[in-house]
Amino acid sequence: MKILIIGAQGMLGRDLVTRLPTLSDPSFPCIEVIAANHGHVDITHGPNTTKFIGQITPDIIVNCAAFTNVDACETQISDSFAVNATGIKNVALAGKETGAKVIHISTDYVFDGTKNGPYSETDKPNPISVYGKSKLEGEREIQEISDNYVIIRTAWLYGPNKKNFVTTILNLGRQKHTVSVVTDQCGCPTYTADLSYAIWKIISLDLRGLYHVTNDGTCSRYEWARKIFELTGDHVSVLPVKTADYKRAATVPQNSSLNCTKYVTASGHKMRPWQEALEEYIRLCDYLATN
Ligand SMILES: NC(=O)c1ccc[n+]([C@@H]2O[C@H](COP(=O)([O-])OP(=O)(O)OC[C@H]3O[C@@H](n4cnc5c(N)ncnc54)[C@H](OP(=O)(O)O)[C@@H]3O)[C@@H](O)[C@H]2O)c1
Repeated sequence: MKILIIGAQGMLGRDLVTRLPTLSDPSFPCIEVIAANHGHVDITHGPNTTKFIGQITPDIIVNCAAFTNVDACETQISDSFAVNATGIKNVALAGKETGAKVIHISTDYVFDGTKNGPYSETDKPNPISVYGKSKLEGEREIQEISDNYVIIRTAWLYGPNKKNFVTTILNLGRQKHTVSVVTDQCGCPTYTADLSYAIWKIISLDLRGLYHVTNDGTCSRYEWARKIFELTGDHVSVLPVKTADYKRAATVPQNSSLNCTKYVTASGHKMRPWQEALEEYIRLCDYLATN
């Protein structure tokens, strides 16, 4: 089985590639993984994407490529749609032509955040940012073009391969001993290592359709920050603030927690609680800092 990973240099893409050897599943007798970064293929370019995928003829394409800077999307609107919508259309068309299944990563930001409780796959998206709108458009492109796809909506990713909320808060706290963090944004912090495992699980079980996949549980960004310092033992004051006090370009959902029951039922695998995953990541950060 030939698996092409696009966006393989990104935070999730790199983890997905490195986690493959840990999968010991007899349903994978022989896997060849091709890790493609932005330099190998620019998915905004239709003919090049078709040619690239046509030369590889993968059985499965996992698309981790995206324009992920939520605030920058507000001003770079055509660029964000070029990658997150047209880019996905190009991948889906090439996948259809070569007969490949397409697995695509989407986001909790397709929702407006007004629901009282976690969002299910059947809830109606209503994005409130350019990023969310462009990602929803990408989902719709795949659903229209392909009859063999998986869309995985995930949230609040962090992992070893890129600056993220955890590293930003840690660095700020260690420099200033005080950080201000919003209490009125709730979601599901998700470790890229755990999401990678779930993606390989989805591949091995040949699941299809739309799934919400995050670590288990929900918290506010404020609670997340407090947990980070509880785990590191750093003496940092975490000050509660409101989103309205904190100026940023994009409007983000107040509640974007996702209900993952559909994935758990289909896969028989429940992701561990976000606190446990965070603890493992913090240990890894400490290890990397001292070795
Ligand atoms: N990060 C989060 O908190 C979060 C939350 C929910 C969902 N997601 C979704 O999860 C997926 C992975 O996110 P991530 O945080 O791992 O993203 P990331 O670290 O920003 O990686 C995205 C990758 O896509 C590549 N890329 C950008 N434009 C491209 C193009 N036109 N053609 C080919 N490659 C291109 C980037 O390469 P260059 O850097 O070289 O441009 C980068 O390596 C994305 O679909 C994202 O929307 C992320």
